[in-house]
Amino acid sequence: MVPEPEPGAGDYEQYKDGFHDWLATYWPEPREQLHAGGWRRTAQMLADIKRHLQTHPPADVATAAEAEATSRPASTPTIALGGPAGAAAVPGRSLGRPLEVVDICCGEGGTAVHLAATEGWRVTGVDIVQSAVEAARARAEAYGEVVHVACQVVPAGSCDTADGGSSSSGDVRLRLRVRVEAVSERARFLHASIFKMPLPSASVDVVYGQDPDGLANPDRVHAFREVLRVLRPGGLLYFWHHWVPGPGWPPELLAAYRADPLTGPAPRLSHEEYVQDVQAAGFRLLHVSDCSQLAAEHLGAMAQRVSRSSQQQQQQQEQREQEQREGGQQREQAEKTGAKNAEAGVAEAGASGRAGESTDGPAGEEGWTAIPISGWLQRALHYSALAGGSMGVHVVAVRPVGAA
Ligand SMILES: C[S@@+](CC[C@H](N)C(=O)[O-])C[C@H]1O[C@@H](n2cnc3c(N)ncnc32)[C@H](O)[C@@H]1O
Repeated sequence: MVPEPEPGAGDYEQYKDGFHDWLATYWPEPREQLHAGGWRRTAQMLADIKRHLQTHPPADVATAAEAEATSRPASTPTIALGGPAGAAAVPGRSLGRPLEVVDICCGEGGTAVHLAATEGWRVTGVDIVQSAVEAARARAEAYGEVVHVACQVVPAGSCDTADGGSSSSGDVRLRLRVRVEAVSERARFLHASIFKMPLPSASVDVVYGQDPDGLANPDRVHAFREVLRVLRPGGLLYFWHHWVPGPGWPPELLAAYRADPLTGPAPRLSHEEYVQDVQAAGFRLLHVSDCSQLAAEHLGAMAQRVSRSSQQQQQQQEQREQEQREGGQQREQAEKTGAKNAEAGVAEAGASGRAGESTDGPAGEEGWTAIPISGWLQRALHYSALAGGSMGVHVVAVRPVGAA
């Protein structure tokens, strides 16, 4: 009997080396991140997460007043204190541990490295594409070191200076800890699927995903269960996925989308099914919304890029044909006159012909076969328009404190 494939295993077939190069062809520069909304959307996510942590601070995590402020060594004098959790100080408590965070489908690690370096969080990025993980590790190495300054208010009279010394001003005593640390120690990257993460259970405070394509898998409920497993009770899940059918698509439209050779097959790909699966996995929902505006901006920008690149390819194709015609004429001429340079003309015409062959990115590049993005975009925008522009899913949820 053939064993059932593991849920999500097909993603290893679908996402391979070359995927990111292909995706980046249509993405607004810079290529640090490959999600809709870029750094602006990341900043919003960060603000949302911090707001949540202010009211629900994870146990033992550094609070604002004892926070680890980070800065590159070169700018040490201008360090400003800010906190990962942003909660009130707990006088007398020992300096907290850093927030443990997982970036699902982290891509090339731009966000994970940024958060590890600027927030002092310990971030683990998980991605299924080996070359993306390597790029992410190289990014963390290249960032270099940061200075962490942890500061805590100590009750007057306390003289415990064991972990870095103290200074006093009137009745207030401060305990400081200063450490220089490589960002690569705070941002690490695992080549793995989000369906099976090599991480201990109940070890993580926050899991976030910025357009985490692993969730497009019809078996995503297993990925959500895996996220639930690694989160501590009370831990936060935050993600958005802009390109999936949005809320309220009528069943016949969803059926047409799924049956369309350009957008399908897309079994169980919809806003409602994502939300169902998050809950079926055991999460408690805090917030659910669409990403219609984000999707409209992003898909619209991509459509423009694709159309520009198709025009360029068309021009290249015409140029190639022109050169071939000229080469043919030269050959004829050469045959007639017996001139010796005829071969060079043919070789040149052949070499210049390669540029225009692909209509949709670097098809045939090693390990990756391009899907027809222009067709997909047109059809996705068409279906979205029929659904009143509704696209995407944004979910914030927590692992219930009492969950097993
Ligand atoms: C649109 S990109 C977003 C990347 C990243 N979050 C960013 O914003 O730059 C989607 C990512 O999902 C990854 N991916 C797809 N399926 C996955 C899976 N099952 N497990 C882990 N990563 C996966 C792809 O390799 C790709 O890096």
